[in-house]
Amino acid sequence: MPSEKYPDSGRRRFVKGVVGSAGLAGVGTAGTAAVNSLVSSTGVGGGAVTYYGIENTDGPAPRAMPQIPVELDDDGYLKGKWTGFEEVEAKDGGTKRIANAEEIAGVDYSPRWFQYCGIQGVAGLQPDYDGDNYFRYAGGGRAYDWQPSDGRVNVEDFADYETWTNGVGKDGLGKGAFTTWRSQNVDTTIPVQIIRSTRIEAAANGDGEAADWLAESTAEGFMAVLNKCTHYCCTPKFKSPQGVKFDAENGVYCPCHQSSYDPFSIVKRSYTALPRPGD
Ligand code: FES
Repeated sequence: MPSEKYPDSGRRRFVKGVVGSAGLAGVGTAGTAAVNSLVSSTGVGGGAVTYYGIENTDGPAPRAMPQIPVELDDDGYLKGKWTGFEEVEAKDGGTKRIANAEEIAGVDYSPRWFQYCGIQGVAGLQPDYDGDNYFRYAGGGRAYDWQPSDGRVNVEDFADYETWTNGVGKDGLGKGAFTTWRSQNVDTTIPVQIIRSTRIEAAANGDGEAADWLAESTAEGFMAVLNKCTHYCCTPKFKSPQGVKFDAENGVYCPCHQSSYDPFSIVKRSYTALPRPGD
């Protein structure tokens, strides 16, 4: 279903350097000075951050899991947005590399959205990572029966998303896949839940702040979520058989301590990102 809001609206702009950017103003109590002193002692690029994610609706998880804004290339392959790094002067006279942020629908999107549960230290989040930004299938374990075990995610693989079912929850709610992002040829991976749904298309075409964000961060009904539970870092799943007895079969369910997330309820949240290891 074509969208009126998906075409680039021109509302994006790049903000160089997260630390000290206007995006921090008014977020929690951490001012620029406080953030600088926090990151310089233990690593690079942590501190207060505001993000959009899928709402935590039940269980002990403290907050939403963050989205990764996506885009489709001309051949229909899905990739996540990556803002890159900038080298700046450090207090000790040397340099350090801090993440750039891109303003999308009024929030500063940057790698800091993902700096929790050890993800702050994985290869794909470091400035010297050598790979692309395409999502690749991750087979095995609790992956979906339908999906390939490797290779890039293409829109054609989701052609049946309006009617797809895995026999769990409502049919036609959306089609899911387990993937990784920025995890090529490295030992540490970034797990990502992909969902394509008509509900996401409809939400992106709605009104309000979250709809504006969705119009910019999803594509043809595709949404990507960092698949790390904000409780103790397990791997949740959309339409998980394990969620049935906890009324979570239509959402994203974490089997470790029964937290649920609603992938169709997008919320804006803040947290304190952990610093990356120093350069
Ligand atoms: S509910 Fe505890 S790790 Fe997810």
